Amino acid sequence: MPGTVLVTGGFGLVGSATAARLAELGRTVVVADLDSPANRKAEMGLPAAVNVQWVDLTDAEQTARVIAEVAPEVIIHLAAVIPPGIYRNRELARRVNVDATRALVGIAESQPRLPRFVHASSNAVYGARNPHRVTGAVTADMPMQVSDLYSAHKAEAESIVRASSLDWVVLRLGGVLSVDPKAIPFSADAIYFESCLPVDGRIHTVDVRDVAWAFAAATTADVVGEILLIAGDDSHRRVQGEVGAALAGARGLAGGVTKGRPGDPGSDHDWFVTDWMDTTRAQEALQFQHHTWQDMLDEARQRAGAARPLLRLAAPLVRATLKRRTAYYKQPVGYANPWDAISRKFGDCSPDTQR
Ligand SMILES: NC(=O)c1ccc[n+]([C@@H]2O[C@H](COP(=O)([O-])OP(=O)(O)OC[C@H]3O[C@@H](n4cnc5c(N)ncnc54)[C@H](O)[C@@H]3O)[C@@H](O)[C@H]2O)c1
Repeated sequence: MPGTVLVTGGFGLVGSATAARLAELGRTVVVADLDSPANRKAEMGLPAAVNVQWVDLTDAEQTARVIAEVAPEVIIHLAAVIPPGIYRNRELARRVNVDATRALVGIAESQPRLPRFVHASSNAVYGARNPHRVTGAVTADMPMQVSDLYSAHKAEAESIVRASSLDWVVLRLGGVLSVDPKAIPFSADAIYFESCLPVDGRIHTVDVRDVAWAFAAATTADVVGEILLIAGDDSHRRVQGEVGAALAGARGLAGGVTKGRPGDPGSDHDWFVTDWMDTTRAQEALQFQHHTWQDMLDEARQRAGAARPLLRLAAPLVRATLKRRTAYYKQPVGYANPWDAISRKFGDCSPDTQR
């Protein structure tokens, strides 16, 4: 049985599913995450085989202590500050996404036995993607391109990992979804953020359980030095506007989500940092795709159960309420302008300029 796996950000969306998958495989797992009331509560629900180390990864001393104590054979590095929160707190986000990744890699490199480093990157590293101008899906060998703060952080962190002396594996994730409504909080920020994005922008979704499967498989598979694109099978090649609406519909809120705006076909910038991904090599190496898009909708519908008829009745009211919280409410007619809309609510979303 391979040795201990340390999962940073192990209480997050991807981290909790990954820790559960590793435990299911009988692996020794240590979750490393912030000591917060929410994470303390989540600790209660962890499988007995999963241990916890409370650590703020922006503190290199704490990080070094945890790595020395756990002596992991593999580090799965998921901890990050992601959209839309990243735009609200640029400095903290940089410290977590870039500086803490650099520190963690350095600490891992100084261990007596070098751990394998499985790094969570994103399809955001391809930058904004205008579906009217690009053809085909993104591939691992395409150049990275920076469009905003998040794509910049993910590209910089990935470069640090790839330049290290560790046995690294990079997993670039698509749009991670869950059939569990509690896994992705429904908040005013989330509603506004999603409404900013062009409805015809391409997004390659994936069930979080399949992502967890991929991370667990990447701890042992013959994939060192590879960049693998992690998204669902071809049924998950969707457009932004249909994803939230379809999931809401499956839960009973058909028509409860306000329609957004299409993107500007003439602009290469005013699109979000998602696209369809060529998952052929990742699937060959990790065999992780187990839930189709329709499977997810069916399961979401089944889980909503008795609440569905009530939600169906409430849908018109929900729609009217949410409409006022969307990005283009009472804005002049036009195409989606995601970066302006995001900046209006969350703050400057442009890449850092100091480098
Ligand atoms: N969710 C997606 O759709 C998606 C898509 C592409 C890539 N990714 C990447 O996958 C990874 C996991 O994403 P997620 O959706 O699970 O995010 P999440 O926000 O749900 O989880 C991030 C976790 O990191 C932890 N964390 C933040 N700052 C920390 C610090 N200073 N010290 C220790 N822990 C800290 C948080 O407490 C949280 O548990 C990230 O690297 C993200 O960029 C996610």
